[in-house]
Amino acid sequence: MTDVADWWQTDIIDMAPGQIRLRGFAIEDLIGNIGFAEMVWLMTRGTRPDAAQAALFEAALVSAVDHGPQAPSIAAARMAVSCGLPLNNAMATAINMLGDVHGGAGEQAMQFFHAVKNHAGTMSREAAIDLVFRENNQLVPGFGHRFHKNADPRSVRLMNLLETAVAEKVCTGSFAEIAMAIEAYLYQQKGKAIPMNVDGVTAVIYAELGFEPALARGLFCLSRSVGVLAHAHEQAGRKERNKGPTPPHYLWTYGGDNPIK
Ligand SMILES: CC(C)(COP(=O)(O)OP(=O)(O)OC[C@H]1O[C@@H](n2cnc3c(N)ncnc32)[C@H](O)[C@@H]1OP(=O)(O)O)[C@@H](O)C(=O)NCCC(=O)NCCS
Repeated sequence: MTDVADWWQTDIIDMAPGQIRLRGFAIEDLIGNIGFAEMVWLMTRGTRPDAAQAALFEAALVSAVDHGPQAPSIAAARMAVSCGLPLNNAMATAINMLGDVHGGAGEQAMQFFHAVKNHAGTMSREAAIDLVFRENNQLVPGFGHRFHKNADPRSVRLMNLLETAVAEKVCTGSFAEIAMAIEAYLYQQKGKAIPMNVDGVTAVIYAELGFEPALARGLFCLSRSVGVLAHAHEQAGRKERNKGPTPPHYLWTYGGDNPIK
């Protein structure tokens, strides 16, 4: 029978009738004793953070919960509900909107930071940033925003928390330094601020805390799910049906033959 038992081999959970252990800890010892953010850390990494690491991690998760109905993920959830979908489908619709350009840039941002760090072993940090920037089609994931053109308030606050964490030796600050050097580089390249956005700053924190880049987008999804649920639930109470992306008196620009005059 080992072929059957090994079919879904996992290091995450052990279960027998009347017993549940997650990463080796009995569920009854976790319930009431561990915060939700710590639980995310334990489940995804198999270790438990100390209190300071957990606080910084939770701050990052809090920062990205919502950005309002102009955020495509939130708008999609609200439209889905107005089309009669239940909350879980609305949440899935929203999560499916999170890609390289909206909310999902954290993974690539972490890869970018790691690449700069690796190259900086053999050249100056500025040269390393320039090299990775060019290798990445002159786009830095996790920087720039449609609305927060000079500074993203979430980034400012999280970088302040990170500064304190570095002073308290919770993390080294090496990725924060790279991110700040990238901001300065982009300013030089573009002649205007292209500030760190929420994907970028949370990527800095996840990198400082030792998360793998592959987890970044999933962590963003967990965070944004909170706002998505709130918006989907609110929209469900509105009793509006089949809402499109704009009020119906705004129509799109038709660019084909024979336009209506
Ligand atoms: C979010 C984003 C789509 C906003 O774009 P936008 O509104 O067109 O940005 P702006 O109008 O402020 O700036 C446009 C200029 O800055 C440049 N720019 C903006 N973000 C940039 C970035 N991350 N890296 C390099 N250049 C960037 C553009 O290339 C453009 O340059 P140009 O004037 O020479 O053509 C864009 O910044 C981006 O793609 N960022 C990376 C992906 C990302 O982090 N997504 C998550 C967003 S929360």
